[in-house]
Amino acid sequence: MQKETFVYGRQNRRGLSAGKRAVLDRIMSNFSIDDSIIQDEVLEPSGLFKNNIRAVWLEIGFGAGEHIVAQALKNPDIGFIGCDPFMNGVASLCKKLDVEGLNNVKIYTGDAKNILKVLRPKSIQRLFILFPDPWPKKRHHKRRIINPETILLMQRIIVPGGELRIASDETSYIHWILRCMAESKVFNWSVSSQRDWQEKGADWPETRYEIKALSEGREPVFLTYFATGNKIF
Ligand SMILES: C[S@@+](CC[C@H](N)C(=O)[O-])C[C@H]1O[C@@H](n2cnc3c(N)ncnc32)[C@H](O)[C@@H]1O
Repeated sequence: MQKETFVYGRQNRRGLSAGKRAVLDRIMSNFSIDDSIIQDEVLEPSGLFKNNIRAVWLEIGFGAGEHIVAQALKNPDIGFIGCDPFMNGVASLCKKLDVEGLNNVKIYTGDAKNILKVLRPKSIQRLFILFPDPWPKKRHHKRRIINPETILLMQRIIVPGGELRIASDETSYIHWILRCMAESKVFNWSVSSQRDWQEKGADWPETRYEIKALSEGREPVFLTYFATGNKIF
């Protein structure tokens, strides 16, 4: 498979503190998904976990890992894949997983698009993208992780009726997401009143960027979509 790198900045290990580098050297291999697996044509995600799991959930852009850790603690019978190339955050997540003794989380440190392309179709029950980088300048819109191409890749791997949760606090990106999702016709937006996007359910643990948005006076929006079974590939 042709691997893509449309990740901008951040993934470098060079700027890491000695402590973070030591964490990565000591324990990252316990959690990381080997890059060679991503070269395979088809990745069966349940095969990444030693213990019995009933479903696999994926988080793209987990940042420092608050959300994925909270979900993994609450749902020990779910296998989690976290994908983020930001090595500072990867080190934070590894440390949290180690401290909590969690063995139901695996980490891919490459571009989300690579793993979206190789996961077995309809193998993911829930996908989270929380406060993705907004890239507000028009010339940078092509860098947005939610775009017409990745929406189709996401629907390909989510079971019909499976959930895609998105949160953002950036108005122009929210409008872009709503438009791209509607035009894709492969997800249904679950919404009946304003409350559905202004308030999140109790099982949406807070993230660092959510706290930052609220403290700076921005109102996050929480979107829940369900994958259709429409065949597009
Ligand atoms: C604004 S931060 C939000 C982090 C976290 N979800 C939160 O809410 O605190 C966006 C994250 O997406 C990650 N990211 C950016 N491009 C990515 C890509 N192509 N694949 C996976 N993760 C990506 C960044 O490294 C960063 O950690």
